[in-house]
Amino acid sequence: MPRQGPFQPPHAYAELRAEQPVARVRLWDGRAAWLVTRHAEIRQLLSDPRVSARRQHPGFPFATPARAAAERHEEAFISKDPPEHGRLRKMLTRYFAVRRIERLRPVVQDIVDGLIDDIEESGPPADLVRQLALELPARTICHIFGLPPEERHYFQSRDHRRNALDSDPADVVAATEEMLHYVDALVASKQRSPGDDLISELVRDQLDTGAAERGELVAILRHLLAAGHDTTANMIALGVVVLLSHPDQLAQATTDPELWPGAVEELLRYISVFQISPNRVATEDIEIAGVTIRTGDGIITPAVAANRDPHAFPDPDTFDIHRQARHHLAFAYGVHQCLGQPLARLELQVVFRTLFERLPTLELTTPAERLAVREYLLLSIEELPVTWTVPGVS
Ligand code: HEM
Repeated sequence: MPRQGPFQPPHAYAELRAEQPVARVRLWDGRAAWLVTRHAEIRQLLSDPRVSARRQHPGFPFATPARAAAERHEEAFISKDPPEHGRLRKMLTRYFAVRRIERLRPVVQDIVDGLIDDIEESGPPADLVRQLALELPARTICHIFGLPPEERHYFQSRDHRRNALDSDPADVVAATEEMLHYVDALVASKQRSPGDDLISELVRDQLDTGAAERGELVAILRHLLAAGHDTTANMIALGVVVLLSHPDQLAQATTDPELWPGAVEELLRYISVFQISPNRVATEDIEIAGVTIRTGDGIITPAVAANRDPHAFPDPDTFDIHRQARHHLAFAYGVHQCLGQPLARLELQVVFRTLFERLPTLELTTPAERLAVREYLLLSIEELPVTWTVPGVS
């Protein structure tokens, strides 16, 4: 479906929402699935116990051949249903609770300060994807896992092979296997010499007590290493583009930093970095919006469609940092709602505030509409060239 611009989802979503909010569509592999375009129905389905997240289910609708290869053998809890899902997710909920994540604020601030020091030292110009957006989530997860920051190159390159637009399914499987071996070795090394980090904590509380099996822990840690990476990185880079394209609202947030949390929610809504997921499969017949979703049918509930629904967000195509956007579905809904959202919010709030405080004259060197913003599973951008004025240098 063609898009109207980098931040304008396909018109077809609005048309379907008005006429056929739960519509039959055809997937790349020739199979049919249901595409849901209204906020209310998406919420309803994502919290319906007759809807499964199991990637192993024969009816699960994968977005592309590469995603099928990447996800078909997913053993982390993103691919489990209750009650098993809850048993495994519970291992991590304490760590990712808002109050505990808040303790990481000084760490995240330090990482951001260091990255902007480097950007100032080497520029202008700079590429904010390479120098900031990819770096912050990777360095943060290294800190959480108790890894030296250099380790990020290993998992970043595997992650890239899993997620690239033109990934070969065989290479996706190989990259996944490599990641699993890597994480398994990390678990072994934390068993030998524990530290003050998440892996050591999980080894002590879950593995050593027999509450979790090693394979379960490895799958979960592998997923965690990847889950917050491209998502947060693209939100940072695309967020900078949206903010620079709305200079009045950016000026308000820099003058009154209390506005940043609301601005971040609106960025999450407006960008909706996940374009064509979450996906699900029906395990029983479901009547909804005048249609019957049959047992085994695939269901696609794109956040981008929900987040531009005028019933949920008046004037949805307008970016407005003052609106109440917190009920957006950028982090999905129901039992699988993003576990890492407190961390994502923290990183986004710190990075935008600090970047625009320290480089108030920041500007794009390529006009926003000419930037290569791509839509795949995620809305993404590979390069973000910027410049700024250095005092005393003309
Ligand atoms: C799940 C979005 C950052 C960890 C999800 C889901 C979405 C999402 C939409 C639900 C997928 C589904 O229902 O199939 C995002 C976005 C992020 C982000 C937009 C950044 C802006 C993070 C971070 C972490 C994380 C930083 C942790 C380091 C997870 C985990 C799940 C998940 C573990 C699985 C939850 C479950 O199945 O119970 N995320 N995420 N995410 N996310 Fe995030």
